[in-house]
Amino acid sequence: MNVGIIGSGGREHALCISLKKSKKIKNIYCFPGNAGTSFIAKNIEIDLTNFGEFKKLIHKLEIGIIIVGPEKPLVDGIVDFLEKNKIKVFGPNKAASKLEGSKIFTKNLCKKYKIPTANFGVFNNIKKSMSFLKKCKFPIVVKADGLASGKGVYICENLKNSKDAIKEIFDGKFGKAKKVLIEEFLEGEEMSFFIISDGISYKKFGSAQDHKRALEGDKGKNTGGMGAYSPSRLENKTLDKKILKKIIEPTLKALKDLKTEFVGFLYAGLMIVKGEPFLIEYNVRMGDPECQTILPRLKTDFLEIVDATINKRLGSIDLEWFVEKSICIVLCSKGYPEKFQNNVEIKKLEKIKLKNNNYIFHAGTKIKNSRIYSNGGRVLNFVIKSKNLKQSRDDLINLINDLNWKNGYFRKDIGYKIFE
Ligand code: AMP
Ligand code: GLY
Repeated sequence: MNVGIIGSGGREHALCISLKKSKKIKNIYCFPGNAGTSFIAKNIEIDLTNFGEFKKLIHKLEIGIIIVGPEKPLVDGIVDFLEKNKIKVFGPNKAASKLEGSKIFTKNLCKKYKIPTANFGVFNNIKKSMSFLKKCKFPIVVKADGLASGKGVYICENLKNSKDAIKEIFDGKFGKAKKVLIEEFLEGEEMSFFIISDGISYKKFGSAQDHKRALEGDKGKNTGGMGAYSPSRLENKTLDKKILKKIIEPTLKALKDLKTEFVGFLYAGLMIVKGEPFLIEYNVRMGDPECQTILPRLKTDFLEIVDATINKRLGSIDLEWFVEKSICIVLCSKGYPEKFQNNVEIKKLEKIKLKNNNYIFHAGTKIKNSRIYSNGGRVLNFVIKSKNLKQSRDDLINLINDLNWKNGYFRKDIGYKIFE
């Protein structure tokens, strides 16, 4: 079978490598992919906002399944369009993608279905937001409603920060804003929790601990993710049960009540407070770098899982996992998540010696005349699967030091809470 993957990050390279292992795979096409995917798939640049052209290309290339990596095309309704045109696609439809596309939609859904989440208020102008703030205990969290590539969230320590944040949002920093979300700050430990669903049944798809802040000790600016390990150190059967019963199942039921369903990966960003899960946000896709961290642990044929999900027979297959854990360090461009330089050559990448269970996934890279250049803030993902995460982390650091990329920086403390 020919499969197409939408996206260009480390997540998509990991999806590509997992698919490639399947006996049933013929060709993989990446739209647009990166330098890493170009070695095992065909990269194709295409305007993904032009659904009509994309459809023609899918037919021409005889692609049997499209897998959507990032949230933007999902929120834009690419799944609805492809399904209407009888093209098989893995990912949620536009209605279900509102779980990520609108934070206010999700908060209201939580309220209606009594899903544990931070207390919140929604305000449609600066004045009302400000009078609410006067009654708040700080810190509080101010959020823009729509997609903002992880940037529309402000943790505010005082009235002044909050006012500035609200002003920026209403001034249109993240697109036209009619409303702002103000939340209570939850103190606890975060966890990324994943399920896969075919609209009828669902299965857990692992957990991970992401490190979103740019600097060691979880300091500095929020990023897309600087590294992760899987499973999360917080994972246990009791907590799993609480997450599924109190958060996931009411959410899937809420979508059913809205006459829709969830197909694909659902990623719950959770805060665990004294053993109790609270929903911080939903993403309607795999996490990045969680995907690169979790997929190497998957034993079951990934294409089989995708095919079963699309054909609504997920209930008939068992997901099997390796017992080993995994850890990922993201090598970034200096300056990320602020200003950074692109097009810096990455030399010697092919000389890095990878042992069994060592992986390098490409994220922001591109290839030109057989040379590899950086093409984004998060550039390469180094992953090791093993029984000893501490040793793996040391080994990852050695691999990155061997590469010695002059424009790179990375966090050496991924997973520090497990080793403390
Ligand atoms: P989000 O984009 O909603 O995941 O928010 C980005 C980050 O902000 C999360 O990963 C958390 O670290 C933090 N955050 C968001 N909402 C809250 C909250 N209510 N309490 C504490 N931290 C939060
Ligand atoms: N690692 C966070 C995300 O994928 O949104």
